[in-house]
Amino acid sequence: MSKKTVITGATSGVGKATAIALARHGHELFLLGRNQNKLQETQQEIQNALPQARVHCIVADLCDLASVKAAADEISTHTDGIDVLINNAGGIFGSFYRTNDGLEEAFQVNHLSHYLLTRKLFPLLEKSGAGRIISVSSEAHKMGKIDFDDLSATKNFNGWRQYGATKMMNILFAFRLHHLYYKRNGIASFALHPGVVRTKFGANNGGYLSFFSWLPFLKTPEQGAETSIFLATEPMENLTSGSYYKDKKIASPHPKTLDLSYQEALWVQSKVILKRKGFL
Ligand SMILES: NC(=O)c1ccc[n+]([C@@H]2O[C@H](COP(=O)([O-])OP(=O)(O)OC[C@H]3O[C@@H](n4cnc5c(N)ncnc54)[C@H](OP(=O)(O)O)[C@@H]3O)[C@@H](O)[C@H]2O)c1
Repeated sequence: MSKKTVITGATSGVGKATAIALARHGHELFLLGRNQNKLQETQQEIQNALPQARVHCIVADLCDLASVKAAADEISTHTDGIDVLINNAGGIFGSFYRTNDGLEEAFQVNHLSHYLLTRKLFPLLEKSGAGRIISVSSEAHKMGKIDFDDLSATKNFNGWRQYGATKMMNILFAFRLHHLYYKRNGIASFALHPGVVRTKFGANNGGYLSFFSWLPFLKTPEQGAETSIFLATEPMENLTSGSYYKDKKIASPHPKTLDLSYQEALWVQSKVILKRKGFL
């Protein structure tokens, strides 16, 4: 039977390349994106190449917690099981912006909305019997510093520092999921760095990252997608849940990501915020 895969940020860059490759592997896809037209273009592109591909478009704005919850509800009307969830969407934001949910944008898009999506889709991942959750992080997590009393970084905001902090959150979240669920429910969890990839990443910053975009050593989106595809398709006996991968191999994350108290603190704080806002 074909695998069912949910992927965020499927309309561009690494996420789009991952979706196209997984369609080639026969996965039925649930593409999440904030823009209906871009979703339909991506769906069309996949179906032009692979007419038999099964692709669903689900609108979800990760700046809007209600939209994330609605997307999870919509997915559960299409299927009663999910094999792979790829938390891929993300961005770096040059200035402080508070979403309508009252949270800083990078914290919400890169971490909290994925936390909510994962928790809402958990029953479907459990039903597949051997679900996998893949969190697309970055080596930039190594410059991240998390203030657990101020996850939205309201004091002395710096876009790079906050990006690094949210990418560290991706790894803490992935490792916490592993500790909580791998032995108990058989759900595996991985984090990864895709490489330095020529995508639209950073384009929302008035181009302050465009300096990097012409560097010759950048990966193509297809190359940047390779580790996500590997973790989604490789037999489980060749993988290690609870690990951080780079170039399809286990790599060393920042030592702080291995700290169980850090992992738990992020889990608890995220839960508290979402409970207070009525989403859990
Ligand atoms: N590129 C790199 O060198 C690099 C390096 C390390 C890690 N990463 C990570 O790789 C992941 C993918 O990035 P990329 O390089 O492929 O960048 P990208 O081309 O900018 O793609 C980012 C994706 O996230 C989506 N997204 C952003 N904000 C959203 C929101 N509010 N709601 C819903 N979707 C939203 C975008 O949607 P739209 O299409 O609507 O804009 C897009 O599909 C990110 O997590 C990034 O941190 C990238």
